Amino acid sequence: MACIGTDQELTALARRTREELLEQMEDRLRAFLRAEHELWAEVNERAVGAVAALTDLVAAGGKRIRPAFCIAGYLAAGGDPDDTAVVAAAAALEMLHASALIHDDVIDASSHRRGRPTVHARHSALHDRNAWQGESRRYGEGVAILVGDLALVYSEQLMAAAPPAVLPVWGTLRSELMIGQYMDMTAAAEFLVDPRLSRWIALAKSGHYTIHRPLVVGASAAGRADLAPAFAKYGEAVGEAFQLRDDLLDAFGDFAHTGKPAGLDFSQHKMTLLLSWAMQRDARIHSLITEPGHTPDEVRRRLVDTGVPDDVEKHIAGLVEQGCEAIADVPIDPVWRTELTTMATQAAYRTT
Ligand code: IPE
Ligand code: IPE
Ligand code: MG
Ligand code: MG
Ligand code: MG
Repeated sequence: MACIGTDQELTALARRTREELLEQMEDRLRAFLRAEHELWAEVNERAVGAVAALTDLVAAGGKRIRPAFCIAGYLAAGGDPDDTAVVAAAAALEMLHASALIHDDVIDASSHRRGRPTVHARHSALHDRNAWQGESRRYGEGVAILVGDLALVYSEQLMAAAPPAVLPVWGTLRSELMIGQYMDMTAAAEFLVDPRLSRWIALAKSGHYTIHRPLVVGASAAGRADLAPAFAKYGEAVGEAFQLRDDLLDAFGDFAHTGKPAGLDFSQHKMTLLLSWAMQRDARIHSLITEPGHTPDEVRRRLVDTGVPDDVEKHIAGLVEQGCEAIADVPIDPVWRTELTTMATQAAYRTT
C-alpha cells in the first residue's frame, strides 16, 4: 500500500521535487554556456567576450521565477519528474529573460542589473578606458544588442529539446514580450495617462512571460493544455501583481535589495499604473517628472500624498486573491494548489 503523508509532508515533497528540477535547469544553463564558450574560444580569443558577458549575467543569479513557474505548472499538471524535457523549457525561459533584461537595460538607460554594471554600461566603460575608436556609448549599446540577440538565439536552441506541444505558447510569449516593451516605450514617449493601458503594458511586457505563459508551457509539456484557461486567469492576475510590485520597488525600493537603480521609471517617464493614477489625481506630478531640477524624492513625496501607493497595494492584494480563486477548483493535486498560492504571494510581495 502506498505510504500517504501529512499535507505538510506532501507539500515539502512537492517543493523538493520542484527544487531538484530547478537545479537541473541551472546545470543545463551552465553546461550550455560552457560549451558555447569552448566553441568560440577555439575560433578566436576575442570571440568569447560575447558569451562571457551573457554568462556573467546568468551567473549573477536572479530569482529564477520563470523556470520556477514553468516547473510548477509541469508538476501540477502531473508531469513526470524524471523526464527532463521540462528542464530544457525552463532553461529556455530563463535564457529568454536574460535577453529581455539586456535589451531592457539599453531601452531604460539602466546602469546596473543584479548588482553589477549592465552589459551596455560595462562595455561602454571598457571602450572609454581603452580610448578605442568611435563613440563609447554606441559601442556599449551595440554590444548589448548583440549579446541580447545571442541569448535570444540560445533560448531558441534550448527550447528545441522541449516537447513540441509547448511551441504555440512559446511563440505567443515571445512576440507579446516584444510588443509589450514597444508599448512601454511608446506610452512613455507620449506620456499617455491611461490606467487601462498601463495595466495592459504591465501584463504584456512582464506578467505574461513571467508567470502566465511559463505555467502554460509547463502544463503543455505535461500534455495538459486543458489547464491553460485556469492558469491564464491565475497567471494574468499574479503576473500583473508581480509587475506592479516591480513598479513600487522602482519608486520606493533601493539598490541594496533590488540590485538595480531606483527611480528610473520617473526619469524615463514610464507610464506605470502608479504614475497614471497619481497623475490623474495631481496635475503637478507631470511637471515634477518632465521639468529638470526635481529630485526623485520630491516625486516620491508627492506620490505618497496622492494616496496612490496604498491603492496600488490594495490592487495587488486583490489580484493575489483573484489569482488564488482562479485555481480553487482546477483539477490538480491539492498540494500544488497550496504551492501555487504560496508562489503567488512570494511573487507579489517580493522585496528583490
Ligand atoms: C525583472 O525580472 C524584469 C521584469 C520583468 C520586471 P525579475 O525581477 O524576475 O529579475 P531577476 O531575474 O530576479 O533578476
Ligand atoms: C521590463 O520591465 C520587463 C522586461 C525585461 C521585458 P522593467 O523595465 O520594469 O524591468 P526592470 O525594472 O528594469 O527590471
Ligand atoms: Mg527596466
Ligand atoms: Mg523597461
Ligand atoms: Mg521595473
